[in-house]
Amino acid sequence: MAKVKFLDLGVQPIANGFLTKDEFDNEFFYNLSVGFDAESLLVSHMEFVDPNLMFNDSYAYRGSMSKTMRDHFKSITKEIKKEISFNPKVLEIGSNDGVFIKNWDAENTFAVEPCGNFAEETNNLGYKTYNNFWNKDLSDKLKDAHGKMDVVFSANCMCHIPDIDEAFSAIENILSDSGFFIFEDPSLEDMITNCSYDQIYDEHPHIFSVSALNNILKRNGLCIVKVDSIDVHGGSNRIWAKKTGNNIVHPSVTNTLEREHALDLDFYVRFHEFADEVMRSKKELLTLLHNLKNENKKIISYGATSKSTTVFNYCGIDKDLISYITDTTPEKQNKYSPGMHLPIVSPEQGFNNSVDFAFLGAWNFAKEIKNKEKNFKGKFFTHVPKVRVL
Ligand code: TYD
Repeated sequence: MAKVKFLDLGVQPIANGFLTKDEFDNEFFYNLSVGFDAESLLVSHMEFVDPNLMFNDSYAYRGSMSKTMRDHFKSITKEIKKEISFNPKVLEIGSNDGVFIKNWDAENTFAVEPCGNFAEETNNLGYKTYNNFWNKDLSDKLKDAHGKMDVVFSANCMCHIPDIDEAFSAIENILSDSGFFIFEDPSLEDMITNCSYDQIYDEHPHIFSVSALNNILKRNGLCIVKVDSIDVHGGSNRIWAKKTGNNIVHPSVTNTLEREHALDLDFYVRFHEFADEVMRSKKELLTLLHNLKNENKKIISYGATSKSTTVFNYCGIDKDLISYITDTTPEKQNKYSPGMHLPIVSPEQGFNNSVDFAFLGAWNFAKEIKNKEKNFKGKFFTHVPKVRVL
């Protein structure tokens, strides 16, 4: 069944494509719209951006930039080790700067990472990292070279892959008979209930509900055995899957499917309502920004996130409304934000008490940020779940 469009977020740039002034003229833009497939229940973009334009040797997002994420990967490693009594062979798909694999011993751990800068970094740390996109051919190659895997882990990567059926069947191909496929991605339920439409950008061609995953994994020989609802990345699901067979299925699976059904995540009409909520959120954010500007307040943004690329471009927020963005990532500093070209500076340079209001571009780290910035005399504001000053 074909997907039916429900939301148009307008013309958007590459969300992580932070750029220099001399790159402005050649910036790539595309139209970002989203649809629902009533048969598989999958929410995905109407058209996919070519992965080579996003995941290349200058990819800027570093998973290890926040303590929250470093701790998160330590803790899931502990949990996996509790489930498996022997020393497992582990494969991570989308290993980024190694924030997960660094918790495992290099001898039994393999990684796949299409961004050359990060593949090189983790290869240099001793983790055999394949600098490729994940697909069936690569899974055959890895199986020949290293045998089947006891754990396949992937965080914020499966939802990046346009051909999700091929990605899952390639995992089924390399997973040992008793192995676990564990993956986490932003949750559709959280996005809909929090109106966090900024989860939608080029790198997330799919926003997964567990209901959709259940259908798609099943048709690729995999079965969900447990679901953890986790709060990273603004609300995610961690799926534990195994090969189809005699599996014990944890009650969290049925509970999640029932909850999603109760929220109408299997009906087009709910997504149509969501589109109205998104438009309302845009109006309210622009009203707040204009009111603050009229009072001559200095407004900046905290965290140059992909999410804020969607917000700024959809709402048309430029330098007249937000003076600049601060971010701790060296690769983003002294560059400009995609599309709206807001300058990005380090927090040392730009986050101080001359700032009256700071938009939480990284609202998903609100707790960590508020803790860190206790001396800030200005105010933070956000659009999630509602536009408001904190
Ligand atoms: P994240 O929310 O994971 O981004 P995305 O929407 O791209 O998935 O990234 C958070 C960004 O915010 C990252 O560039 C680092 C930055 N950051 C700060 O500048 N200061 C902080 O205290 C934290 C926690 C993050």
